[in-house]
Amino acid sequence: MAQLLDGRALSRKLNQGCVKPAASELARKPGLAVVLVGSDPASEVYVGRKGLVAGRVGFHHVQITRPVETSQEELMQIVKDLNEDPAIDGILVQMPLPKHLDATQILDSIDPGKDVDGFHPANTGQLSQGRAKFVACTPLGVMKMLEGSEIPLSGKEAVVIGRSNIVGRPMAMLLEQAGCTVTVCHSRTKNLQAHVERAEVLVVAIGRAEHVPGAWIRPGAVVVDVGMNRREDGTLCGDVDFEGASERAAWITPVPGGVGPMTIAMLMHNTLLSAKARQ
Ligand code: GUN
Repeated sequence: MAQLLDGRALSRKLNQGCVKPAASELARKPGLAVVLVGSDPASEVYVGRKGLVAGRVGFHHVQITRPVETSQEELMQIVKDLNEDPAIDGILVQMPLPKHLDATQILDSIDPGKDVDGFHPANTGQLSQGRAKFVACTPLGVMKMLEGSEIPLSGKEAVVIGRSNIVGRPMAMLLEQAGCTVTVCHSRTKNLQAHVERAEVLVVAIGRAEHVPGAWIRPGAVVVDVGMNRREDGTLCGDVDFEGASERAAWITPVPGGVGPMTIAMLMHNTLLSAKARQ
């Protein structure tokens, strides 16, 4: 049976043991602004959690909520005001945005020095050269979790399923920089099973409930499931068949309680970094 990569426990340790004490030593509280446009239920839950944890680690926190019909100009103005606000160190615009909005233009308008999501092209460009100031929170959280369990990565065959800007792409870069040989699979990949069967480290971020069967997992693999899906009966599950994969993997993340809390912990980590740099 696989050992659990317990993101809930590790995130608590990082938040309470590292971020909170470091924040309390600063002259000014780190400030995090989270912007939510519309009322996507999953986004509301994620944004709520980010605010809750920001409060627990002693940050100044503002949530800006706007209706779904908000215009591009209004949202650009919100970002501009936050860029100029000296009490704000980190700006996060929750994705996905409503379809009529141009997310790229919004993300590009965030001050790269306050881009605690690591989505600005200045930050992704630096990440591609292995010298990022802010790394996207989910892939950074995955790396911290692997580090926390002292899982060696150098020379390993890693397979990332998904090529999003939020997870798959930066994840592949970080694994490559840690010495893995990385394959990125996506919707056009032929014979996904053959790639999964080779993976010593498997990261799945596709957003399809239990899409990867346990029988595909290479014995002894490390399985990181970024998915968060709802089954028809309302219960939550990841992108991997957890029960089946647990019988073959050496390590596996639970869903929920794996990657999710680590994403939030890395948001706090990035906001603290920004606050330190700005004070
Ligand atoms: N939507 C899903 N994950 C994320 C994230 O890490 N940051 C933002 N801004 N939106 C998201």
